[in-house]
Amino acid sequence: MNLDELNKIANKMVAPGKGILAADESTGTIQKRFDKIGVENNEDNRRDYREMLFRTDTAMKNHIGGVILFDETIRQKAKDGTPLVKLIEAAGSVPGIKVDKGAKPLAGAADGDTITEGLDGLRERFVEYHKLGARFAKWRGVYEIGAGSNGMPTPSHNAIHANAHALARYAALAQENGIVPIVEPELLMDGAHTIEACEGVTEWILKEVFQELYFANVKLEGMILKPNMIVPGKKCPKQNSVEEVAERTIKILKRCVPGAVPGIAFLSGGQSDEEATAHLSAMNAIGNLPWALTFSYGRALQAAPQAAWSGKAENVAAGQAAFAHRAAMNSLASLGKWTQAAEKKAA
Ligand code: 13P
Repeated sequence: MNLDELNKIANKMVAPGKGILAADESTGTIQKRFDKIGVENNEDNRRDYREMLFRTDTAMKNHIGGVILFDETIRQKAKDGTPLVKLIEAAGSVPGIKVDKGAKPLAGAADGDTITEGLDGLRERFVEYHKLGARFAKWRGVYEIGAGSNGMPTPSHNAIHANAHALARYAALAQENGIVPIVEPELLMDGAHTIEACEGVTEWILKEVFQELYFANVKLEGMILKPNMIVPGKKCPKQNSVEEVAERTIKILKRCVPGAVPGIAFLSGGQSDEEATAHLSAMNAIGNLPWALTFSYGRALQAAPQAAWSGKAENVAAGQAAFAHRAAMNSLASLGKWTQAAEKKAA
């Protein structure tokens, strides 16, 4: 492992004004997105859609430091035969790969507690993905706040500990193979819990994750953290202000994430496009942060281009314009400079 090289890759992914495009939807997840816009979920449509994004020059060159791909996509070629990975590299962006195999019910635990699978054979998969051009990877642990089917609230200590351990083993394997790990512990925003509950559980999760990363000898300078923001559950009657979300999120991150980590890139997690952007901008406006603080959005970058495109070749320009707009707005947010006025002017 060359730590300088890993650190250089990580810094490139979160360079000033840049963030990450999470385009790593599994075939099942993209099905849900395509269903919404009436597009058949086949290999060609998945390729056409992603090719449209990766050929959006203004967004890719200026605002997207890395793209997370799914296994199928990292092997796919554009219509003219160019590998999609090459389109990403040509734009000056880093190709990455989702390597986890999804969250499964955790044996012995209450409903809602899951463990993410995919460690077996991962060393060999990393060797292949590196050859295919991946220079970073993603693994997502998932946690849900709930009452728990066995009378014990979720997430349990066992779920938090087991996922932290898996994240650390994945991250160590990634670094061993010259690949920057994105470490993604996601506390879901489903449910009616308060912002205080999200804050307390997220702090617990992050403390556990960084403890396990230390035990596994993961080098913090060669990784990126992808956390949830501190937000109330979607069904919570009290929805907090943008400023409060920003202040609480920064407070918890400062408590838990060492300054040696080059970047923190948030997931959007079901927030609306504009909420995800406003929250990120408010956090960066607070300033004086030890890490780059940016986006690694899936839905909050792609919902607009998906709707504009709707699977029609004649809508490619509109899809690209919608993607370029969201990328530009989130780029401003990563600098703490997004405003409602910028949102409206550019729309
Ligand atoms: P969302 O921004 O849609 O939450 O997706 C990000 C991601 O990569 C989830 O794993």
